Amino acid sequence: MNKKIALLGMGTVGSGVVNLIRENEDLIHSSSGVGFTITHVLVTDTTKTRTADVSNIRVTDDITEIENADIDLAVEVMGGIDSTKEIIKRFLQKGIPVVTANKDMLAVHIDELEQTAAENNTALYYEAAVAGGIPIIHTLQHSLNANKISKVMGILNGTTNYILSKMAFDGWEYDDALKDAQAIGYAEADPTADVEGIDAARKTLLLARLAFDKKFTLDQVKLNGISGVDIKDIELAKSAGLTLKLLGVAEDLQGKYNLAVEPIFVETTHQLANVHYEKNAVFVNGNMLGEAMFYGPGAGSYETASAVVSDMINSAVITAEAKNVPAENGELAEELADSAYY
Ligand code: NDP
Ligand code: HSE
Repeated sequence: MNKKIALLGMGTVGSGVVNLIRENEDLIHSSSGVGFTITHVLVTDTTKTRTADVSNIRVTDDITEIENADIDLAVEVMGGIDSTKEIIKRFLQKGIPVVTANKDMLAVHIDELEQTAAENNTALYYEAAVAGGIPIIHTLQHSLNANKISKVMGILNGTTNYILSKMAFDGWEYDDALKDAQAIGYAEADPTADVEGIDAARKTLLLARLAFDKKFTLDQVKLNGISGVDIKDIELAKSAGLTLKLLGVAEDLQGKYNLAVEPIFVETTHQLANVHYEKNAVFVNGNMLGEAMFYGPGAGSYETASAVVSDMINSAVITAEAKNVPAENGELAEELADSAYY
């Protein structure tokens, strides 16, 4: 089965998606039966040289052109909040599934978009929006669903963990480490969201929402970033056997919810103290599972594309399963469509 894709955005993540699909095309096809043809790419500057091959792809800065095209799936990796939500909503209203990596937008609009998806028998996928390449969204939705979860906690921002690691292990100054994180492509277009803890707060909200099956708003997340951190703080912590980490924490305290992002001194023997550079880790406490930790890359081109393309494959497979059910077996078709509401 071949799916026609509109790719909205072709920066760090979008280029990774194009390159990954080209590189692993045969493997994806043989394991899932799915093939992808990227027919359109949306950018702001159509004259820019791209790091991925865009020959045979229509590169445009006009969203209307894409909305009028015949596509099966929209993949949003461009960023933006309110206007991007409107674009995604229009695809969902047409029954077109959407994959997004955009936690800024989701942290504000996910409830509305999931409702729109449900009303239109389609689905919204966002594995890449939290902890980059770590499959934590799918895990909370589908693998830990036999547990009552009391706590989700972790290092959720690659840029700040990279800065803190560079300062602690390589003796770098804060500003140099931030510039490096920007150059590699870990940081947001405006890195204020990274260093002030806003990006981690958005991810904490998305995790809490799944873990506790509750709706939250960003103003419920207590917030402290790392912009005030000095090399002296790091050295002092080191001499006391501690490591400074920016942690996102979401706890269910008997029906009261504590959501916070803050720099915390962690004992160097703790697993989280040993998550370095752009790596992320998520701790989950389930009442049956106990404690589990998920570790991996929190940002980066291919690392994030790994999660985006996995959503694309899952979307294609689930949509096909729902459509293949014989017409007379309508109930089953509905069930399968429901299972697509990630
Ligand atoms: P980049 O800034 O590298 O790329 C953004 C792309 O989107 C560019 O191609 C840009 O066009 C295009 N674009 C931006 N705004 C518009 C617009 N209004 N209309 C049309 N095109 C637009 O971002 P990233 O690839 O780093 O991130 C993309 C998304 O993925 C963001 O939501 C980010 O938060 C999220 N994310 C990023 C991760 C990472 O490691 N970088 C990890 C996980 C999620 P042009 O190229 O012409 O400028
Ligand atoms: N800027 C984000 C980070 C990208 O550094 O974690 C991944 O969400």
